[in-house]
Amino acid sequence: MGEKKRILSGMQPTGRLHLGNYAGALSNWVKLQHEYESYHCVVDWHSLTITYDKTERIASDTVEMVADWLAAGLDPSKATIFVQSLVREHAELHLLLSMLITLGRLERNPTFKERVKNLDLRGEVSYGHLGYPVLQAADILMYRAHAVPVGEDQVPHIEMTRELARKFNSTYEKIFPEPETLLTPFTRIPGHDGRKMSKSLGNHILMSDPPEVVAETVMKAITDPEKVYKGDPGRPEICNVFAWHVAFNPEQKEQISIECRNGSRGCVVCKKEAAGAISDYFADFRAERLRLEDAHDHVLDTIIHGTERARAMAESTMDMVRRAMMLFMPEK
Ligand code: TRP
Repeated sequence: MGEKKRILSGMQPTGRLHLGNYAGALSNWVKLQHEYESYHCVVDWHSLTITYDKTERIASDTVEMVADWLAAGLDPSKATIFVQSLVREHAELHLLLSMLITLGRLERNPTFKERVKNLDLRGEVSYGHLGYPVLQAADILMYRAHAVPVGEDQVPHIEMTRELARKFNSTYEKIFPEPETLLTPFTRIPGHDGRKMSKSLGNHILMSDPPEVVAETVMKAITDPEKVYKGDPGRPEICNVFAWHVAFNPEQKEQISIECRNGSRGCVVCKKEAAGAISDYFADFRAERLRLEDAHDHVLDTIIHGTERARAMAESTMDMVRRAMMLFMPEK
């Protein structure tokens, strides 16, 4: 029996998670923990790259998010759960790696270009923002991860991580595996307005929303705009409610699609069923999440223990890095 391969992934602290976070990342982490030695990091420093002036909720959002991870089944006896800012070695490795990449390469990063455009930063780009992928590379390489489970949007960052690993290995000493991208199976979860589900757009359903709140949001959803009357045929492929059925009510999706297309299914019934299916899907999660609300210390202990484990690994990696770079180490 060979050693398990190692994965690392990170998530910015956004507090309670929504269905898009679950389908796009967390559900996959829960599955992978059985196959891989897993490291999962709350990347709170990354969240500063844009909102450096809104820090008052970072700490509470970290705890709320980790409670969601645990309630969803991420098991601290299998996965190491920790907070980036508590393992200061990430900052050290970030600095060292920053010497190995050019400004041009960072400016060409498509994720960066897109963010600058979308956020309308008008050229006001911080040094830290430009270095976002270098910090991400430090997160990954610190644990000498073999693979990184992420969505499509992160592929450019993993490529830069590989380049940094190669550059370090060829300049100093071969320490870092070049991590593979472990692409998360594509699942686009729309918000009720049809845009990608996101907290900042306010179109989300939380995993922990009680059934009445789920129903309220689902009833607001935009369906096929050309399906005006109950008996009109609809197009499930463009319907947000149908997308939720596909993700959280998969046994019924074929039947629903047929009924929608032939006009025998109205949107109101369809929404009620979707709300019921989503609530049922997350029933166990909600119960466990409620239990964890009374077990705040357990969540904190999990973070503390995970962080200790992560730190031990980080210290040993940095020891290798300092040696490889022949930095002054007076005690040895
Ligand atoms: N950039 C990632 C995102 O926006 C978050 C992240 C930071 C990350 N460090 C990481 C993901 C390391 C994977 C591995 O989703």
